[in-house]
Amino acid sequence: MKYQECTGTLDTASKILKVNHAGEFGAINIYRSQILVSKLFGRSYVPILENFMADEKRHLNTFWTEIQKRNSVKCKSYWLCGLGGWAMGLISALFGKTGIMACTWAVESVVINHLNEQLVYLNQRRDWDAYEAVKSILEDEKNHRDIGHTEGGSNILYIPFRFMISTFTEGVIRIGMR
Ligand SMILES: [Fe+2]
Ligand SMILES: [Fe+2]
Repeated sequence: MKYQECTGTLDTASKILKVNHAGEFGAINIYRSQILVSKLFGRSYVPILENFMADEKRHLNTFWTEIQKRNSVKCKSYWLCGLGGWAMGLISALFGKTGIMACTWAVESVVINHLNEQLVYLNQRRDWDAYEAVKSILEDEKNHRDIGHTEGGSNILYIPFRFMISTFTEGVIRIGMR
């Protein structure tokens, strides 16, 4: 997706911030339901998920701080992201560790593509505060993606599952940017 100048009440940088903020809320809820299910089954990888969730909570605050400096507008799909994330996390967790890691790998791969495109746009616009906010989460998201990959998320049996998750994530971001 190309990040261009938006027409409408919100400028593109504000939309990027609110979409990312809602996305972080979605991510928190993915990990929240995954942790719930994994704890139920006494899985050993719960600490990995708890670390991921702590990162996402920090990211949520980063974007909210920046949004409050501007217009304090929350994304219309904020609660939808939360609910969708929770459901996605739950379904993935029913497939066990591979499902969870496939979910993480798929979601974070889509997210990272968007973050990189957002950085190009914000750099052109010279919106350094928004740029720094986006830049500050990039390494964490790459780390989540890479762990998802190395912990089994790239299993070929999960290609259709990852495709569904990527498509859904992409769709939510597009709706949020409208
Ligand atoms: Fe995040
Ligand atoms: Fe993440």
